[in-house]
Amino acid sequence: MSELYYPNKELFKDAAIKSMDEYWDLVKQAEEDYEGFWAKYAKEKIDWFKPFTKVLNEENAPFYKWFEDGELNVAYQCVDRHLATRKNKAAILFEGDNGDQQTLTYRELYYEVNRTANMFKNEFGIKKGDRVVLYMPMIPEAAISMLACAKIGAIHSVVFGGFSAEALRDRIIDAEAKLVVTADGAFRKGKPYMLKPVVDKALEEGCECVEAVCVVERNGEEITWVAGRDYAYNELIKSQPVTCEPEVMNAEDPLFLLYTSGSTGKPKGVQHSSAGYILWAQMTMEWVFDIKENDTYWCTADVGWITGHTYIVYGPLAAGATTVMFEGVPTFPDAGRCWRMVEEYQINQFYTAPTAIRLLHKTGADEPSKYDLSSLRVLGTVGEPIDPAAWKWYYEEVGGGRCSIVDTYWQTETGGHMISPLPGATPIKPGCATFPLPGIFAEIIEEDGTPTPVGEKGFMCITKPWPSMIRTIWGDPDRFVKSYFGDCKKDGKPVYFTGDGAMKDEDGYITITGRTDDVINVSGHRMGTAEVEAAIKKHDNVAAVAVVGKPHDIKGEGIFAYVVLKDDEGVADELETMKEINAIIKSEIGAIALCDDMAFVPDLPKTRSGKIMRRILRSLVKGEKITQDTSTLEDPSIVTKIEEIVQCKC
Ligand code: WT7
Repeated sequence: MSELYYPNKELFKDAAIKSMDEYWDLVKQAEEDYEGFWAKYAKEKIDWFKPFTKVLNEENAPFYKWFEDGELNVAYQCVDRHLATRKNKAAILFEGDNGDQQTLTYRELYYEVNRTANMFKNEFGIKKGDRVVLYMPMIPEAAISMLACAKIGAIHSVVFGGFSAEALRDRIIDAEAKLVVTADGAFRKGKPYMLKPVVDKALEEGCECVEAVCVVERNGEEITWVAGRDYAYNELIKSQPVTCEPEVMNAEDPLFLLYTSGSTGKPKGVQHSSAGYILWAQMTMEWVFDIKENDTYWCTADVGWITGHTYIVYGPLAAGATTVMFEGVPTFPDAGRCWRMVEEYQINQFYTAPTAIRLLHKTGADEPSKYDLSSLRVLGTVGEPIDPAAWKWYYEEVGGGRCSIVDTYWQTETGGHMISPLPGATPIKPGCATFPLPGIFAEIIEEDGTPTPVGEKGFMCITKPWPSMIRTIWGDPDRFVKSYFGDCKKDGKPVYFTGDGAMKDEDGYITITGRTDDVINVSGHRMGTAEVEAAIKKHDNVAAVAVVGKPHDIKGEGIFAYVVLKDDEGVADELETMKEINAIIKSEIGAIALCDDMAFVPDLPKTRSGKIMRRILRSLVKGEKITQDTSTLEDPSIVTKIEEIVQCKC
């Protein structure tokens, strides 16, 4: 059993959940009266335009409906309703890469959202249900545009700014977006980078659905304008009215789509709802981050990922908090950037990914000691398992042995946290997400629903529907059912399977052991092997390819490709081919999917039916002994051949 750590209780005197007794009590309440449990919070937390009378509709499972006859508006919940009590409170504190700063109070945010919503409506004809793609840097206009969509009932789909033109195009076409909002570019490590040219390229082919592109000016670099298609945000916004009636939305109306990778096929458009999503986003801000009226909260994610949606924009604003938005990177101008900002803004909650913690630990272990970090109370991590060494540094050096570390386990599909310590209640363990939040029935089970024994790996399932869960995959309900409800059952009924393995220890603490499918977790971001392989296959000289995750010091996992070339003789320089392949990946997906390394092999280990034995490839790249039975392979000798090639690489 690993050691327990006890954060300073004094810091959490007013926490929503103050002890493990209170925690277990809430768990019991949810068990005894599930609908009553959620109904109570939904009534208390949401400013309904029309109250709901039904809590959960399971008739068409797994297409669950929550609070289905209730009406609300998420932008109203996040902004308008706060004017009465906090109009002059900072809603968003923006810090640019170069250190430039901007504050938006709730009142200012309200006007900006309204003007942008009016612009979308009046200038671009955007109506309720229309899709708007946001390809944006980390600037306030990204959050404003998201909220403006919510205000008029449009469905936004934010595409991470690191994705390539091809990846952007796929997402635009899949969502049939009418409008793309972007920026000329932004700043990164002191230099401008560009986004608009990527949009131009994406729109060259097959995007007839797009009627207009709205461009925010951020870095002032020169861009090309297509007459009749491209419009300047900064110009059009000037003449917009500052009030805008919130569209009355049904609880189940989609709030946004966010594309994420699966083990097979193209990325899926995860569809989230309005009421269930915002309820849990707000509640977890209170439970997990212990957000208080005078706190300053900072999540370093990008709005292009679910963490940015729920824990930079929607959750903090629904909770009426002050949220910091940062354009830059943690290591520029030096590895003290984050800690300098924590000191200057007097940050109370700091939320980042293990990959950033490892990087900051490695490149600036002493940096935290140079700053006053005494404002910190809660330190969060998300996206991948955190190793004990990084955890301890975070706990001791950043948190001064006083703060709670909340290792939050969740996914794009879950909308918000599923398993996490509660800062005022949970004694913590390094690398351990600890316990499911009250109301969340996260269970480690076998495929048939029997509980996995303590100390053994099982499937991480969520066995009851929860309000912020994915509603469907945009345009592909069958894939939704197959992807999430096809693997595990409990009491004969399909239950949601996360794709992760997990293990419970003798104290009941849950550790996430990682994906059980072919998804690779690079720096806390999900990459589908099929997508990367499809890109690599576009190289003229590639006959076959399989990619696997390879342990990486900073990124957690890097991408490693086994490549079979059509014409091996002709390849004078393997390095050259590697560069060419990576150039294709960069243009098909983006720099996040670049391969760290490749092995050019004579063939892949395949079964007689042609299935690639990835498990063998995963073991080989880790330098592990092959324990799998290789006798069923079409050519068992291939394993030794590959092993020799890979060994030279390690
Ligand atoms: C996958 C979800 C959730 C926002 C960021 C990533 C892994 C997430 C943890 C954690 C271990 C974690 C899982 C999950 N993951 N949080 N605390 N400990 N693993 O969102 O891209 O949807 O990826 O990230 O494998 O399935 P995402």
